[in-house]
Amino acid sequence: MKKKLVVLTGAGISAESGIKTFRDSNGLWENHRVEDVASPEGFARDPQLVLDFYNLRRRQLKEVEPNDAHKILADLERDFDVNIITQNVDDLHERAGSTKVLHLHGELLKARPVNSDGNSIPWEDDLNLGDLDENGIQLRPHIVWFGEMVPAMEEATIITSTADIFVVIGTSMQVYPAAELIHYVPEGCEVFVIDPNLEHSYTKPENCFKCGGSEGMKKLRDLLLH
Ligand code: APR
Repeated sequence: MKKKLVVLTGAGISAESGIKTFRDSNGLWENHRVEDVASPEGFARDPQLVLDFYNLRRRQLKEVEPNDAHKILADLERDFDVNIITQNVDDLHERAGSTKVLHLHGELLKARPVNSDGNSIPWEDDLNLGDLDENGIQLRPHIVWFGEMVPAMEEATIITSTADIFVVIGTSMQVYPAAELIHYVPEGCEVFVIDPNLEHSYTKPENCFKCGGSEGMKKLRDLLLH
């Protein structure tokens, strides 16, 4: 029986692929107001501004590749039951080969009708006003905006509560409810943190790798496999 390795990832794991994080210097939230481009109110106020914000990020996603951190996580499926819980909306975990990826904040390459929070459809190109679903309803990015419910959170807590090993990589843990997951880690579960700007205090210092994702995942792989 393979040990269950649960990994909570954030924007930092995709930084080495060239995707901006949110709260680092020159991060996404330095050049955009969250309330304008990542909230239902912003979408109601100026839908095209919001659609353009995600269209740019969707186009950029086609230009980047998974990095070693994504690839090592995918390779670890040979030795562990790897469950990724990601706050990222990119598809880099999937493109690296990971097979169990739960997106807490939605997916950039999907869209859904504005009147639902469920049934999404694949959407790889620009999404604009006038792009409608089969019922003639305007489509929106399948992204969880600030103030909206996180439908996948219940499943994420169940996955986390059965972890043998829990890894936090590339997230500032400033956004809820995602950040609450650390409180669902079961007693006796080994916790590791990989982040160059380490502020997390979720585990003992020797389990904290103050470095980038690729370097940290190489260290963690060596530790777990030897
Ligand atoms: N490797 C690993 N971690 C890195 C790297 C790197 N190369 N570069 C930066 N980091 C770390 C930063 O130190 C920081 O702790 O990644 C984290 C990025 O934090 P945020 O920018 O806050 O991103 P994240 O935690 O994913 O944000 C959570 O906030 O805006 C919302 O919905 C959005 O999903 C996002 C959520």
